[in-house]
Amino acid sequence: MNSFVFQNSTKVYFGNDSVSTYLPGLLAQYGPKVMLTYGGGSIKKTGIYEEIMGYLKTAGKTVVEFSGIRSNPTYAKVLEGAALAKKEKVDLILAVGGSVMDCSKAISLGAVYDGDLWDAYWAHAGKIETKPIPLGIVLTVSGTGSETNGGSVITNESLKVKTGRDYPELNAQFAILNPKYTETVPKFQFISGAFDSLSHMMEIYFSEPNDNNVSDVMNEALMRSAVDNIRAILVDPHDEGARSNLVWLATMAENRILKLGKKTDFQCHILEHSLGAYTFCNHGAGLAVLHPVYYRHIVKDGTKKFARFAEKVFDIDPSEGDELTRAQKGIEALTAFIKEIGLPTRLRDMNIDHAVLVDVAAGCVASPGSFRQLGKEEIREIFEEAY
Ligand code: NZQ
Ligand code: ZN
Repeated sequence: MNSFVFQNSTKVYFGNDSVSTYLPGLLAQYGPKVMLTYGGGSIKKTGIYEEIMGYLKTAGKTVVEFSGIRSNPTYAKVLEGAALAKKEKVDLILAVGGSVMDCSKAISLGAVYDGDLWDAYWAHAGKIETKPIPLGIVLTVSGTGSETNGGSVITNESLKVKTGRDYPELNAQFAILNPKYTETVPKFQFISGAFDSLSHMMEIYFSEPNDNNVSDVMNEALMRSAVDNIRAILVDPHDEGARSNLVWLATMAENRILKLGKKTDFQCHILEHSLGAYTFCNHGAGLAVLHPVYYRHIVKDGTKKFARFAEKVFDIDPSEGDELTRAQKGIEALTAFIKEIGLPTRLRDMNIDHAVLVDVAAGCVASPGSFRQLGKEEIREIFEEAY
C-alpha cells in the first residue's frame, strides 16, 4: 500500500429526519447572513425550499438567494455567485442540491480570491492560502459524493474544458444527507447518479497497487452493494433501505477513504468530462457508455484484476476457463448490467453529434494512474467505438 495522510473535515448527518433534527442547530453556529444556493427549481416543487427557508427564518437569518445552478455547473455561474457572495459579505453558503455543491465550493473560494480563479485553481492544481467562506450542504440528489470531499467539477464554456480539483479546504463544514429528499429525483437521474458512484469505485479499484490491500477488499464489497441496491431500487422505488444504501454508497466512494494507498485511474472520468465540456451530457450516462469500451482496451494490461472483479462483483466462476476469458466475461457482465438498469450503451443514443468527437478526443489527456496510458489515437478510437 502507498503512504498517505488522511483527514476528512466534513461532519455528516445522515437519516430521514436529519434536516429537521440538525439544520436549526447548525445554522445557529454561523453569522446572520446566509447565501442559499440551489438549482433550477426542483426544491420549490418538492417543498424542500419552503422547509429550509422556515429554518432560516426561525434562526433569524438574512437570506441571499442564488439559484439557477445547472447540472455540469459553469465557470460563468461560479463568477456570478462569487461576486454576489463577496458583495453581500455572507457568513455561510448553504448549498441545497447536487451539482450545486460543486458550484458552491468554487463560489466559497472565488468570493475571497481576487486573482484569476480558473487559472490559479482549476487550470492546474494550486494551493489555497485564503480561507474560503464556510459551506454547509443539504443533499437532494446523490451520486457524485461531492458532499464529503473538496471536489468541484466546473465547465469552462469558453475554453471547452470541464475539470475538477479536490481541495481539502473546500470540504463543506457539514453535510446533511436525507435519503427521503431523493425520492422525487427522476428515475433516470437517480440511476445515472448511482452508476456514477459505481464508476468512482471502479476507477479506484483498477489501479496500482494490486497486491493485498484494504482498499480493494472494501471496494469489492461496495461495488457488489451498489449493483445489488441499484437492482433493488428499480424493483421498488419505495425501498427505503436500498435508497439509503445508495446515498451512503455514493458518499463512501468519494470521501477519500477508498483512495487511500491507491494511485486511482479516473481515465474514464477524463474522457467523460471532455464529452461533457462539448455536450453538457448527463455525467453518469456518459460514464455508462464509456466504461466497457475503455475496459475492453485495457483488459490485457490488467487481466488478473479484471478476472478478480468478474468473480467478486459479478459472480463469474473462478474455476471456469482461463484468466483472460473470465476477465472479459466480467466486462460483458458490466455491459449487461448497464443495459439492465436502463442506461445507454452507445453515444448515439445520447443525442450526441458525431462531429464533436474529434474535438472531444483531442481535449483528453492520459491518466497517469491507469494500467496503461492511452495515446491520442487510441482515445479517438474509444470514442468512435462508443458511438
Ligand atoms: O436543478 P434542479 O431543478 O434542482 O434539478 C436537478 C437536476 O436537474 C434534479 N434534482 C436534484 N434534486 C432533486 C431533483 N429533482 C427532483 N427531486 C430532487 N430532490 O436532478 C438533476 C440533478 O442534477 P445534478 O445534481 O447536476 O447531478 P448530475 O449527476 O447530473 O451532475 C453531477 C455533476 O457533478 C460532477 C459531474 O461531472 C457533474 O457536473 N462531479 C462531481 C464530482 C465531485 N465533486 O466530487 C465527482 C464526479 O465524478 C462528477 O464529475
Ligand atoms: Zn463521477
